[in-house]
Formats: sequence, structure tokens, C-alpha cells
Amino acid sequence: MLWQIALAILVCMILWKLFNTEHNDLDSVPGPAKFPIIGSAIIFFGLPPNKVFEELLKWPKKYGKRVVVTALYRYILHVYDIRDIEIVLSHSRNIKKSKPYVFIEPWLGTGLLVSTGSKWHRRRKILTPTFHFDILKNFMNVFEEKTKNLVVDLKQKVSEGSGVIEVMPFISDFTLYTICETAMGIRLDSDKSEAKLKYKQAIIDIGPLVMKRLTTIWLHNDFIFSLHPIGKKFAECLDSVHSFADTVIMERKKSYENDKKEVASGDRKQRLALLDLLLEAESKGEIDLEGIREEVNTFMFEGHDTTATALTFGLMLLADHEDVQERILEEVTSILGDSDRPPNTSELGEMKYLEAVIKEILRIYPSVPFIGREITEDFMLDDIKVKKGAEVVVHIYDMQRNEDLYPEPEVFRPERFLDGESRHPYAYVPFSAGLRNCIGQRFAKLEMKIALCEIIRHFRLLPVMKDARPTLKVDLILRSNDSIFVKFVQR
Ligand code: HEM
Ligand SMILES: *[C@@H]1O[C@H](CO)[C@@H](O)[C@H](O)[C@H]1NC(C)=O
Ligand SMILES: *[C@@H]1O[C@H](CO)[C@@H](O)[C@H](O)[C@H]1NC(C)=O
Repeated sequence: MLWQIALAILVCMILWKLFNTEHNDLDSVPGPAKFPIIGSAIIFFGLPPNKVFEELLKWPKKYGKRVVVTALYRYILHVYDIRDIEIVLSHSRNIKKSKPYVFIEPWLGTGLLVSTGSKWHRRRKILTPTFHFDILKNFMNVFEEKTKNLVVDLKQKVSEGSGVIEVMPFISDFTLYTICETAMGIRLDSDKSEAKLKYKQAIIDIGPLVMKRLTTIWLHNDFIFSLHPIGKKFAECLDSVHSFADTVIMERKKSYENDKKEVASGDRKQRLALLDLLLEAESKGEIDLEGIREEVNTFMFEGHDTTATALTFGLMLLADHEDVQERILEEVTSILGDSDRPPNTSELGEMKYLEAVIKEILRIYPSVPFIGREITEDFMLDDIKVKKGAEVVVHIYDMQRNEDLYPEPEVFRPERFLDGESRHPYAYVPFSAGLRNCIGQRFAKLEMKIALCEIIRHFRLLPVMKDARPTLKVDLILRSNDSIFVKFVQR
């Protein structure tokens, strides 16, 4: 049954291809072997996620700075070169996300990450003020409190054993609790409910499922996917995620309305959350409840996993570099003296070395290793015409490890970002660039800064195996194929 449907779809695509023989500049761009009609679609077939990533990394060495992959009637252009990346990211009308993003649409809807055109413009306008620095300041007490809890949890764990800790589970709880309270005003720390556990697991499971779909061409079809075990598992995950988010939104809406009365009577007790700003926009008719749901799901996804992997890779790198830990500590001491209170926003702003550390972490391990666009308007990449309908993949990871831009690219050296050496504005784009850059980048940097500052103040980090670097894999974001362990020693 399944393969018959797949075959029927294949036949239609073959016919389409046969009758459409228009010239395309992308035909002359090198890339993996293109078989007649199905193109190079089978290259990823059956590969585990870490092999997919390995394969992708080989391409620029094998084929050069531009690589074309074809899949049935689709052209997918991969770009690695800084000039090409600039042209693609700075284009003001080619802002549509590529095909793969369609596969996360059932989850995030057409929220800010996935939407395009006028819907995206409208949403971005409504949401931009909610990430203004003045608003972020309101979240400082959440950042502080969650960081404090993280340190307490780590201390507890250290006291129970050798101090060797698998980092990601702790960090990922921390970022999840932080985004949940800042975005939705909900405390997950004290809530060990079934719904929360299911939500967390679903978020972890969803990425690999989408990735599996992406690399298995016949699962691109919705109908086939819905019948396949992977599609069924995906549907289950969605169910957990959506019911959780919906519950939170409805609860907050109730308390928002109560709160409004209390504010009127001068007795506001709840902390401000991003969701409140969305509910305010709703009361002005700028967004509806469905829209709020999309944005909440988008923030919950984009706002916790990305930061968690960055912090996890970061702690691993810091463990290998005691000198960097020492410099961070010196800087913190010079600003906070011997006080043990957490830094406030202006003090964090003074921590230039810590800022360089975070930059260097995200250079080596950009949480979003590549991003994609679907071209809606023809444009020129130097002499090559990229036509409407083509897809372009921008390889952030690869570019940020280019040795022409960063000598000894594998070496962790925060000083690179202190030297004041001039750098091409597109040589560092972990948050993307142009119109569709990351709306949460200030949020992320502030959260990472306070977390790293407090961890380094309380612990000396040691590597479990010096200079060991994990195998990476592709998922919706960059991940280590195996768990990352770091030894924590209380200062
Ligand atoms: C270290 C942490 C983070 C990294 C590396 C990161 C990176 C990125 C990148 C590369 C994009 C562009 C994606 C694309 O073009 O497909 C993006 C978009 C986005 N990010 Fe982040 N992000 C981080 C943290 C956050 C946080 C904390 C939030 C929210 C609180 C957030 C919310 C978003 C949203 C909503 C978009 C879509 C913006 C738009 O298209 O207008 N991100 N992020
Ligand atoms: C941060 O704390 C310092 C020292 O107490 C103080 O001078 C400064 O005004 C504070 N900044 C903010 C933004 O609260
Ligand atoms: C990657 O992870 C898988 C599953 O955990 C494991 O079987 C495999 O050996 C790992 N590969 C590498 C290269 O670490």
C-alpha cells in the first residue's frame, strides 16, 4: 500500500521533470552524483544523523564553495562562502523559509520562525518591542532565581558523588524553567506532573523525527508520513506539546484578567511574562488566541534548546581551559568585589571578557548550524542566476570554522573577539543576520552570561578527558552524538 502510493507520486514527478526542460544555471554547479530524475536524493538514505552531518561537512572540500543537490524536481543550493552568505541573508525579499521548515509547522504553526510575507512582517512588528532591553530587565529576577537553583542542584549532585556530571539534563532543565517562566509566567520547577514530563520528552523526541522525515524522501508526502510509524510518533509528540501549551495559555489568560483588576486596584502580584504582552496585544486586536499559541510554542522551542546546547558545549570547552575560567573569575571579582550577590544588568554589561567567551562558544558550536530559504524572487549570486523555487542552505557552522576567517579554527580562544581586529560583518552569524535574524539574541546572551558567571564563581570545571571533542549530529539544532560529561569541583 505505502510503496504503491510512493510509486504513484514518483511517476507524477518523473512526468513533470520530463516535460520541464528549461535551462537552469544550478545544473552546472558541482555536487554529489545526480541520477536521472531522482537526482541526488538518495545520498542520505539510511544514514544515521551523525553520518548525515559528516557527509554535509565533506561537501565544500569535495566540490567547492557552492554545492547543488537535486531531489526530484527540486534544486537545493548549499553555500559556504562568506560573500554568498551575505547576499542570501541580506536579501530583503527572499525571506521565505525552505521546505524543511514545513515539517515543523504542525508543531509551531506559522509563528515567527516559520511564517513569511505580510504575516511575518506583522508579527515581527508586534513582537519586537517585547524583546526590548527594558523588558528583558524585568526577567532578571527570573534569570537570577533559576541560576541560583541550578547552582544548588549542581552542588547537591557534586556532594553525592565524584563530581562528574552529565551536563545537558541540568542545563536543559534550567533553560526550560527559565523560558517557561519568562515566556509564560509558569513555574515548572516545583511541578513534577505527568504533563510536564511528557512535554519535555516530546520536545526531545520531535527533532530526530523531523530529521528522519527530512532525509527520507518519500516521508515528505503528508499522507505517507501519517501512515508511517515515524509520523504516528510525531503526532503523539505534538499532542503532548500542544495540550501543555494550551493549558498554560488559558491559565495565564484567566490570571491576566484577574491581574488587570488587581493592577487597577494597585495590587499587582505576578511577574511580567512575554505571554502578558501577547495577551495585551490580543486585547487590542493585533493578534488572536491561535496566534498567541503559535508564538508561545515558537518561543518555547527556539528559546530553550538552542541556549541549552550552547551552554553545554560551552561548559565542556571551559573545562578544557582553566586559564579562561581564571580570567572570567578575575573579571567578575573586579566588578563585584568580594560580594557574593548575583550581578545586575549593568554589571553584566561590563563583563566584556565573558561576552567574548560566549561569542567564541557560539562560533565553534552555533546551536543552529545551518538555515534554509526558499527563493521567491530570482536573484544573482555573482554570475549564477538562482531562480524562484530553488532552495538555499546557508552553512553557518562551516563558515565559522573557516581557517581563512579564523586561524586555528578548532581552537577555543575567546581573545579572538577582544583583539579588536576587524572582521567581515557576516563572518559571525550564529543568530543569523538580516531581516530574519534571531529576535531572542539579547535574551539568550543575558541568560548565558548570568548562568556562566554564577557557575564559574561556584565551581572549578575539569575535563573528564582532556581535549576530547564529541561527534556532532544534525537534528533541528546542533547536538553532540554522545552525552557530554564535565567534572565539577566546588570552589
Ligand atoms: C544561543 C541561543 C540562540 C541561538 C544560537 C539562536 C539562533 C537563531 C537563528 C540562527 C535564527 C534564524 C533561523 C532561521 O533563519 O531559520 C533564529 C531565529 C529565531 N530565534 Fe533564536 N537563537 C537562540 C536563542 C533564542 C531565544 C532565547 C529565543 C526566544 C526567547 C529565540 C527566538 C527566535 C525566534 C522567534 C526566531 C525567528 C525570528 C524571525 O524569523 O523573525 N532564539 N535564532
Ligand atoms: C547595579 O549595582 C550597582 C552596585 O550596587 C549599582 O551602582 C548600579 O546602579 C546597579 N545597576 C542597575 C541597573 O541596577
Ligand atoms: C553515535 O550515537 C549512536 C547512538 O547512541 C552510537 O551507536 C554511535 O556509536 C555513536 N557514534 C559515534 C561516532 O560516536
